[in-house]
Amino acid sequence: MEEGPLRRALILVLVVFSLLSAMGSSSSSSPSPQDVRVLSAERRIDLTSFIVRVFLTLKVENTGASDVSEILIAFSPNEVQHLSIVKASAVAGKRKKKAYLSLDVNPVELAKGPNGAQLFSIALLSPLKSSETTVVEVLYVLTHSQEPFPAEISQSESQYVYYRDSALLLSPYHIGEQRTFIKTPNTKVESYTSVNPSSRVGTEIKYGPYHDRAPYSYSPIVVHFENNHPFAVVEELMREVEISHWGNVQITEHYKLVHAGARHKGVFSRVEYQARPSISGPSSFKHLLARLPPRVHSVYYRDEIGNISSSHLRSDSLKSELELEPRYPLFGGWKATFVIGYGLPLQDFLFESSDGQHYLNLTFGCPLLETVVDRLTIKVVLPEGSKDPSVSVPFPVKQHYETTYSYLDVVGRKTLVLIKENVAPEHNVPFEVYYKFNSFFMLAEPLMLQAWRKICVFGEVFAFNFTKSQEQKKRDKTARNSHCSSDASFDFPELQSNRLGCLAEEANEKEIKKLHLDGVRDSSWRRGERS
Ligand SMILES: *[C@@H]1O[C@H](CO)[C@@H](O)[C@H](O)[C@H]1NC(C)=O
Ligand SMILES: *[C@@H]1O[C@H](CO)[C@@H](O)[C@H](O)[C@H]1NC(C)=O
Ligand SMILES: *[C@@H]1O[C@H](CO)[C@@H](O)[C@H](O)[C@H]1NC(C)=O
Repeated sequence: MEEGPLRRALILVLVVFSLLSAMGSSSSSSPSPQDVRVLSAERRIDLTSFIVRVFLTLKVENTGASDVSEILIAFSPNEVQHLSIVKASAVAGKRKKKAYLSLDVNPVELAKGPNGAQLFSIALLSPLKSSETTVVEVLYVLTHSQEPFPAEISQSESQYVYYRDSALLLSPYHIGEQRTFIKTPNTKVESYTSVNPSSRVGTEIKYGPYHDRAPYSYSPIVVHFENNHPFAVVEELMREVEISHWGNVQITEHYKLVHAGARHKGVFSRVEYQARPSISGPSSFKHLLARLPPRVHSVYYRDEIGNISSSHLRSDSLKSELELEPRYPLFGGWKATFVIGYGLPLQDFLFESSDGQHYLNLTFGCPLLETVVDRLTIKVVLPEGSKDPSVSVPFPVKQHYETTYSYLDVVGRKTLVLIKENVAPEHNVPFEVYYKFNSFFMLAEPLMLQAWRKICVFGEVFAFNFTKSQEQKKRDKTARNSHCSSDASFDFPELQSNRLGCLAEEANEKEIKKLHLDGVRDSSWRRGERS
């Protein structure tokens, strides 16, 4: 009877102990930002393209007592909207032996900073011990972040844009010292917000150094500068990849391209444009460059009207470059819709994994250089009879499966559909599609083809038998129809036409017999036909 309360007390002690330890572990896995300080931060913002690339170097110190396993970075709500990709790496070694090891970056869903700042967590390779320092490098890419101003320009005007940011790096940590460098495409900078100390030399605007800024410090700036870089945005790109185990990967790409810069106003003078394209259309673009794999073949390029011959393909052992020229130059707001198709040798892209699966290793993203894709769909049509497909992409993508049928298919083809929005050139990295495939199915297609041929042959034989039997019948009738030669043969066209006439007559007779059977006896109609 004494055991009851004792056991209860023991359980209570255990529960309290486990609760305490749980709290302890949770606090060590996500330390409060006060435990980390950024000793120095350097930010380089590259505005030479229409895609914004920001390189950030952070030297951080663990000022707390417990280990730190992740570093947080913050983005304003406006940046998050246009954020295409964030990559981070740890720097190992010094100077010449520097090596970059990539780190996992993930949005922190629950915790938000002040003013809606979105936090991203960078997982360190090994926990940072108390009072240790480490260097983390971050690259993030922003799209649609240069606003044309003026918003409308005429054919010969240059394009100017606004870029908005903060002179101080948005961070959940205290920052000891920081500098920001902004690189513009040229020296034509209309204006930039000055935040003491700040200066401009040539194509570089420098903000800082600023010392000892509190967490989430922010100081808005605007830079207004000339940017005639092609604002090439693919609103929609559909890439269809079809694997045939008979040696080919066929790729078809449907593009909806737009010039996303300042809208063109007034009339377009082609004469003026052709005479001096650099002066009379500085913000327009005329050529597109697609980087395709080496050994590409059967390349075509067409739009709604038909094939466009103005494309050039240059290939070497590492890559192929396809230069495309739409039918007209693109000015702000103008669109072009076109299709590119090409074949690739299967052995360059299809491999076998150690566990006996097949996998396709292809490049994600858009082959057109320096373009943004608002919405990218990649459809990978697997060979008929493929099983258990799975995909490995190094960033989040939406995915689902559907079935595609082509004319020789029996059960249809499993098709993997990947969808990603806001795609930048940094997404052009390899991805793999794994699947199991029974080689028996390789026979399915040729078997279907053979079966189809058999049907054709049978049909031909049948048709031949039919004509033969017709000829036989005809021979029986030669006595009756003197003007129809019984020697009619396929070898003599002039006789053949005669023969056709006879066949027509025969058919007529049959028709008439049928009419008779139906009880119709209109002899005048018959006579009229015969005369
Ligand atoms: C377009 O070019 C492709 C490849 O050269 C060819 O197969 C196709 O028949 C052409 N189409 C037209 C309409 O000319
Ligand atoms: C895929 O191909 C790239 C080079 O094109 C290579 O670096 C990568 O290791 C390949 N991936 C796999 C899983 O084989
Ligand atoms: C064609 O006719 C021959 C004899 O006239 C017959 O033996 C054969 O089966 C026929 N073939 C077909 C496909 O009807």
